[in-house]
Amino acid sequence: MRIDIVTLFPQMFDGLLGCSIIGRAREHGLVDTRIHDIRDYTHDKHHVVDDYPYGGGAGMVLKPEPIFETVEAVKTELGLASVPTILLSPQGRLFNQDIARELAAYQHLVFICGHYEGVDERVAEHLATDEISIGDYLLSGGEIAAMAVMDCIIRLLPGVLGSEASLAEDSHIGGFLEYPQYTRPPVYRDWATPSVLLSGDHAKIARWRRQQSLLRTAKRRPDLMEKTVLSPEDERLLNEAFEIS
Ligand code: 6GU
Repeated sequence: MRIDIVTLFPQMFDGLLGCSIIGRAREHGLVDTRIHDIRDYTHDKHHVVDDYPYGGGAGMVLKPEPIFETVEAVKTELGLASVPTILLSPQGRLFNQDIARELAAYQHLVFICGHYEGVDERVAEHLATDEISIGDYLLSGGEIAAMAVMDCIIRLLPGVLGSEASLAEDSHIGGFLEYPQYTRPPVYRDWATPSVLLSGDHAKIARWRRQQSLLRTAKRRPDLMEKTVLSPEDERLLNEAFEIS
């Protein structure tokens, strides 16, 4: 996959692209990322990228011309007439794991990071093919949102994660929250690991984990719980968990 990022702050991506799973995916050639500075596509002496909003109001609006020209340069380089182009903005559709899977199927993606009070609407209307938000809170720019979306997509690409981690993905996201995890030492500052995890009884451990997933989801994310119909066995596990806790 190739990802082109259109931004006013290219340096913000240095950390993400050099580290951990994304850093390794890039080194292995599983994803090719290119950063484009919108300011490089201005033509005036002062490289102005924003202007006052028509109709008045606070803050500045990103001008359309440099953003259109940046994306058009990317398309020319790719030799493509169109490419999936995602504008990150609080007005977009709410990102989730289903959208991550949808985007992970593309060969090329362009991310446009908005900033200041907004982006001229003609970018959303006539340049972007999709508009995405990562949640109902306000970031000062689209860069962190683009990084969150990219991270989700890249870890879904073939070869990026081991097959074990990929399986865990399928069974948990969109269903129930993860069960609690523990590692050594067995007792830390008087806080003991649940004894079932040290028992060596794999059936009992699987049952406990399932029960913990159900209980956490019911307590913390009732919205996720409402989306699913529990099997009779899950129903029983959850009822038992509520009786104990
Ligand atoms: Cl995509 N951009 C900004 N500025 N704020 C956000 C967001 C995006 N998603 C959630 N909040």
